[in-house]
Amino acid sequence: MTLPSPPMSLLAELTHRCPLACPYCSNPLELERKAAELDTATWTAVLEQAAELGVLQVHFSGGEPMARPDLVELVSVARRLNLYSNLITSGVLLDEPKLEALDKAGLDHIQLSFQDVTEAGAERIGGLKGAQARKIAAARLIRASGIPMTLNFVVHRENVARIPEMFALARELGAGRVEIAHTQYYGWGLKNRDALLPSRDQLEESTRAVEAERAKGGLSIDYVTPDYHADRPKPCMGGWGQRFVNVTPSGRVLPCHAAEIIPDVAFPNVKDVTLSEIWNISPLFNMFRGTDWMPEPCRSCERKERDWGGCRCQALALTGNAANTDPVCSLSPFHNLVEQAVRNDTQARKNFIYRRFKN
Ligand code: SF4
Ligand code: FES
Repeated sequence: MTLPSPPMSLLAELTHRCPLACPYCSNPLELERKAAELDTATWTAVLEQAAELGVLQVHFSGGEPMARPDLVELVSVARRLNLYSNLITSGVLLDEPKLEALDKAGLDHIQLSFQDVTEAGAERIGGLKGAQARKIAAARLIRASGIPMTLNFVVHRENVARIPEMFALARELGAGRVEIAHTQYYGWGLKNRDALLPSRDQLEESTRAVEAERAKGGLSIDYVTPDYHADRPKPCMGGWGQRFVNVTPSGRVLPCHAAEIIPDVAFPNVKDVTLSEIWNISPLFNMFRGTDWMPEPCRSCERKERDWGGCRCQALALTGNAANTDPVCSLSPFHNLVEQAVRNDTQARKNFIYRRFKN
């Protein structure tokens, strides 16, 4: 039996606790409680198994990973194992002593998320008063520490017009890299799609703003466009079970952050099975790996090894079957579902369903 190539990255979702409540959060709708979280020894074993399996990078994520008191210890474990470590944080819990401790432990990179450039816009999305000032203070501390920093802005219909100001803020704060990522519509994002989805005109304007900034040079820019306005889907996670492995706060191991919605499949847990066994032979990871599972039109499509059939979670959320062709693809028999959502943008909703434990 040929084993798959090892994953490149581990997404370690240390906790689902978070002081913010963004309505596009990539966490599942069923958030995991603190009592269910893995302890430090188990996370240490997960990192050791990941390194042994061939993982190169670990992304400490959440929720807000800084809510975990053992974050510094886990970063030092990653350093000992020669894993490149990235902290994905909102920055609102970061202060100078914590940053110093993370730096000393060997943290390689910080991705700091911003909800907007204006205080009001940031509070409307994140739901936390004073968050913007705390993020700006965090960015200045990170800049002073010398740890490489990427600023991440999730964009949607309410803030997409402010992309030029986002770049200006990134330059002012000395970020080396900026990620402008249109909201992805599964989980909380799908729940709030009608309030978030930009119009095609807004999308085109945002693309022009990104191109204009790229032309200026001096800033590395990643731009993630919204699937809904594309003709072909993106290769979600670089292909199911091909590059990423995701461990949830309670130890479930998933091929992507949204996979828990897939019905009728067992979700393996690091408490019961090794990471390498899960990656190599679990039914979950082999379910949509490669191209054998594909229906037509993917099966005979020349793009099948480029986009790997798009996103399984999107196919499930929109069509009820994860094995269907991603409806974003204009060749999909379900493409009308996406076209309909895009057409509905004139009846956009204004209220958000915030990402909270009780929602
Ligand atoms: Fe991708 Fe399938 Fe569409 Fe081809 S038919 S572009 S493989 S989603
Ligand atoms: Fe799960 Fe795309 S989010 S496959």
